Amino acid sequence: MEVAAIAKLRLRENIITERTRTISYAIRDVVVAAKKLEAKGQTISYLNIGDPLKYDFQTPPHIIEAFCEAAQKGLNGYSSSAGLPRFLDAIVEKERRINQVSIVQEDVIATAGISEGIQMMMAALVHPGSEVLLPGPSYPPYLAFVRFFGGIPRTYRCIEEEGWRPDVEDLRGKINDKTAAIVLINPNNPTGALYAPKTVQSLIDVAGENGIPLISDEVYDRITFDQKLTSTAALSNDVPVIGFNGLSKVYLVPGWRVGYMYFHHPNGELEELREHILKQARIRICCNAPAQYAAAAALKGSDIYLKDVIKRLRLRRDLCWRQLNEIKGISASKPEGAFYIFPKIDLQKRWKSDEQFVMELLRKTGVLVVFGSGFDPMYGAEHFRLVFLAPPTILENSLNAIKQYLDQ
Ligand SMILES: Cc1ncc(COP(=O)(O)O)c(C=O)c1O
Repeated sequence: MEVAAIAKLRLRENIITERTRTISYAIRDVVVAAKKLEAKGQTISYLNIGDPLKYDFQTPPHIIEAFCEAAQKGLNGYSSSAGLPRFLDAIVEKERRINQVSIVQEDVIATAGISEGIQMMMAALVHPGSEVLLPGPSYPPYLAFVRFFGGIPRTYRCIEEEGWRPDVEDLRGKINDKTAAIVLINPNNPTGALYAPKTVQSLIDVAGENGIPLISDEVYDRITFDQKLTSTAALSNDVPVIGFNGLSKVYLVPGWRVGYMYFHHPNGELEELREHILKQARIRICCNAPAQYAAAAALKGSDIYLKDVIKRLRLRRDLCWRQLNEIKGISASKPEGAFYIFPKIDLQKRWKSDEQFVMELLRKTGVLVVFGSGFDPMYGAEHFRLVFLAPPTILENSLNAIKQYLDQ
């Protein structure tokens, strides 16, 4: 093509699809503003993202060695689309040992993190106009993927005064003919809530009574402070459950993008769904193969490091919870799992929205948190999410800065 002809070349207008225009992701979107301030010389405390490697947590050496060994041994080819048998086997064993979930290899599909699992699941279940019931507030990609596939995310209320326990009656009242799935996240992001077995059982009952697929995201399964997680699939005898899990958080390898989903269906009720997820797995070929070898080693290997991780996180949780509640205009319930706290902020007439509060806080103090309405415009509004992964000194300084800003 001649240069003159190239200069004339114009793309047609409106080439971007509506579904892509719907995408937003508050956790990463706020970073754009922070980076601009950083470029101008401001120091930023990043308390926005749930990446344990951002500060002083490190991947255990035996897990890194397993990755290097896999690559060096030449295990760099494609794996089967459902996942490497060695990895699937390790998942079955881990789920039985840690979460008392009984599944077999054929029930498991390896995914590029839970994120890919959410995408595949919503692609399979969401028809135009379908509704998916999500905890309010919720991890944003659930809302985004439901919208992306033409569905409507509907959040069920979680009760702040009761440690963000799901309001089962509210959930029940939101079920209709268009409901395609119910999602629970336990322990929860962004609230840090850990659901009691009784609550999990109520959600299983609602799903079972209405014949609706129940999806349980348990990526923080081993990051709990006082009680252990009761896994949904472990409680459910006859109601089918789809489990989402991964290695990003507990095994400290978020950048590897390795996770999985499993189908707990004692009578094979999820077989058709599993087949359709597998078809999607085939067209994207497979997950990162060396990471799957290493993930198998991680699941089967020593987990002694986790004791120290929890101990440090508990200290940081306590520090944040105490200091936040000492600030006038802020109240927060105590997280029981994960590494998030979701305080309520009294906006008074000073800020128009939680988003404006977060952006001004960033500009004035350099502390970056995420606005609550990014997790749900309804039940997340007038809140913000703070990640307590940073070392105590950074947390303390950030909380002092928040206090000073609010006291002004
Ligand atoms: C509840 C929840 N599910 C899934 C994910 C994403 O996990 P992955 O890294 O496996 O895609 C996160 C990450 O923050 C999360 O909080």
